[in-house]
Amino acid sequence: MVEKQHLRIAVLGTGYLGATHAACMAELGFEVLGVDVDQSKIDSLSSGRVPFYEPGLEDVLTRNLAAGRLRFTTDYAQAAAFADVYFICVGTPQQATSNAADLRYVDAAVETLAPLLTRPSVVIGKSTVPVGTAARITAQFHALSPAGEAVEVGWSPEFLRESHGVEDTLNPNRIVVGTDSPRVEQVMREISASQIARGIPFLVTDLQTAELVKVAANAFLATKISFINAMAEVCEAVGADVIQLAEALSHDDRIGGKFLGPGLGFGGGCLPKDIRAFMARADELGVEPALSFLREVDAINQRRRARTIDIARGLIGGSFAGRTVGVLGAAFKPNSDDIRDSPALDVAATIGSLGARVTVYDPEALENAKRAYPQLNFAHTMVEAVRDAEVVLLLTEWAEFRSADPDELGKVVAEKRIVDGRNALDPDHWRAHGWTYRALGRP
Ligand code: UDX
Repeated sequence: MVEKQHLRIAVLGTGYLGATHAACMAELGFEVLGVDVDQSKIDSLSSGRVPFYEPGLEDVLTRNLAAGRLRFTTDYAQAAAFADVYFICVGTPQQATSNAADLRYVDAAVETLAPLLTRPSVVIGKSTVPVGTAARITAQFHALSPAGEAVEVGWSPEFLRESHGVEDTLNPNRIVVGTDSPRVEQVMREISASQIARGIPFLVTDLQTAELVKVAANAFLATKISFINAMAEVCEAVGADVIQLAEALSHDDRIGGKFLGPGLGFGGGCLPKDIRAFMARADELGVEPALSFLREVDAINQRRRARTIDIARGLIGGSFAGRTVGVLGAAFKPNSDDIRDSPALDVAATIGSLGARVTVYDPEALENAKRAYPQLNFAHTMVEAVRDAEVVLLLTEWAEFRSADPDELGKVVAEKRIVDGRNALDPDHWRAHGWTYRALGRP
């Protein structure tokens, strides 16, 4: 039996972050209203269907819809009449013409909500924003809301990983709240009470530190991945093995093994755009040199894509023109249908543009990939994707690909050649079955 909570929560934005946050706040016992400007998302969520692939979320959604704790609307006025607390969970993508974050969705949410707030309210930002945004938004609420300074703003960055969204929201490894308002802190303590009781660290900071925690965390994770990928480049030059190198490093618990997985590198809706937005903000703040290393982190990451293409091209004799290529993976990581800045699709599209006939298969991301890359061919099974291929590239490490049978695929390809872009396969096993196996950072 979930204990009923009295705070009423509105969650603005129902993408990966907001839909998960709304459903999980209801799971904690709160009455929740999810708000989005996209009617089709609202219709889908209201009928118990998650409009993207996120393991476990549909269960939480349907359970809380049925319990009557969770509803969805496109109507901000309804949200303003209902809620005590508002979470801003809209997207902050990269601007089309620069590295900076595009804040139009945050601004739209604030400008729509603020004039409707007539009662004392708490607004908590969760979206990843350039440092300084929360202070600006606070001033906007005070200026635009009838309740004026009785609207209090805090920032509580969200660290959830896609494909682990429910677990990361219900059991975060820390809760960070940036605020100088005792009321905001008290509301966040109330919302987080069950998590605090389980010993999850609850850190209170000023607004700008909270904003920075998120981008600093993602910058660190991206740096760790690019570090091991830089080591892979060196390994390639001397015939060393980056997998053995990474394992040996990981036993030093100051280094640790997580996010030390060499391969095609990072993509997705967060790490790439967050490090770029962080650099752009540092530039504005006059501390550009402090983050200039992130430019190298980004460059190492991009070079892995080029290197993967070079290895494949080398395997088929130096040119993709007129060749047949099978690609396993389209999502930016396994257990997701998200293709934002997907290394796999970037590689596939580049190989296609070099003249190859490229066929892609992914267990969940095919529909998104088809919409974004109509120039590629898509197959509905792994076997169909590699049929007649002169080289196969494994670019997203789904379990289905990790456990692929080299003999089964060997029967349908034109040539048994595979580039393992994620170091997901056992080289000895594939070589023993007659394949020419190549991977990043390994002999
Ligand atoms: C990330 C952060 O982990 C999360 O805390 C933040 O809230 C949002 O950004 P997410 O984008 O869901 O989450 O993906 P994540 O699991 O972090 O993976 C990011 C990328 O790094 C993926 O493309 C993945 O394939 C790649 N990666 C990860 C590696 O290349 N090597 C690794 O060792 C780990």
